[in-house]
Amino acid sequence: MPGSGGHTRLVQDVSLTFSPVYRTKTGLRLFIHPDAPAVAAAAARHFHARASSAIAVSGRFTVALSGGATPRAVYAELVKDLDLNWTKIHIFWGDERCVPPTHSDSNYRLAMDHLLNQLPVPEANIHRIKTELGAKQAAAAYATELQTFFKLEPGALPRFNMILLGMGADGHTASLFPGTAALHDGTHLVVSNSGPNLDEERITLTYPVLNAAAWVIVHVCGHGKSAAVKAVLDTPPQPELLPMQGVQPMHGELVWLIDQAAASALD
Ligand code: 6PG
Repeated sequence: MPGSGGHTRLVQDVSLTFSPVYRTKTGLRLFIHPDAPAVAAAAARHFHARASSAIAVSGRFTVALSGGATPRAVYAELVKDLDLNWTKIHIFWGDERCVPPTHSDSNYRLAMDHLLNQLPVPEANIHRIKTELGAKQAAAAYATELQTFFKLEPGALPRFNMILLGMGADGHTASLFPGTAALHDGTHLVVSNSGPNLDEERITLTYPVLNAAAWVIVHVCGHGKSAAVKAVLDTPPQPELLPMQGVQPMHGELVWLIDQAAASALD
């Protein structure tokens, strides 16, 4: 668990020389890049590596995209990646705002406009969260889609090849916000949850699904996130207050890609 008490000693991992990388005591790999464009390029490289490997091994790549604004720069990099076999890639979302798919706040719309409309991803491979059903029904329908797609036995978890996550300045990730009910749900794959403003409804993957992924790539940029980065990495586990601390893949890799501004509060 990140921040397992006291200062997380960041040790330079010289084995990965292509960028400054540190390994925390919990095994989290933290890459610090000069700026946001470099973070976006790194995230696109990780996406390419994970997708190429998964397609080679299993004939498909399953990825849950994050929401918010940070992924937009990643999409601008990925849309140029014509070496990937996009027809074998299945796109999901880690969370969604309960707005129509055409709404400017829609995480689905951001990905469609800046990535998916420009690439040969089959429509059947785009697994939109159907917000028009209302938050609770949309969560139930999305959970059913996961169970069907991943051919899950009752109680089993989907193992995404990769989940891309952002983080808010309050330490939230996906739509797992501090002090909200979704943080405590260990039985559903997907739940509705209250957003940052209590009147706003969200749909989100739960911790069990996030932590079942093979690779979780966290990308965080900007000075505004520096206090949250330090708190998540450097204070004892308290996911109720800092939900990102609850992201700890059980049998997967956790990689953080941050820029120097977001790293500025770290020792
Ligand atoms: C959402 C996200 C959320 C996001 C963070 C960071 O739907 O808003 O999934 O978890 O990743 O709030 O957002 P920015 O990238 O806009 O800073």
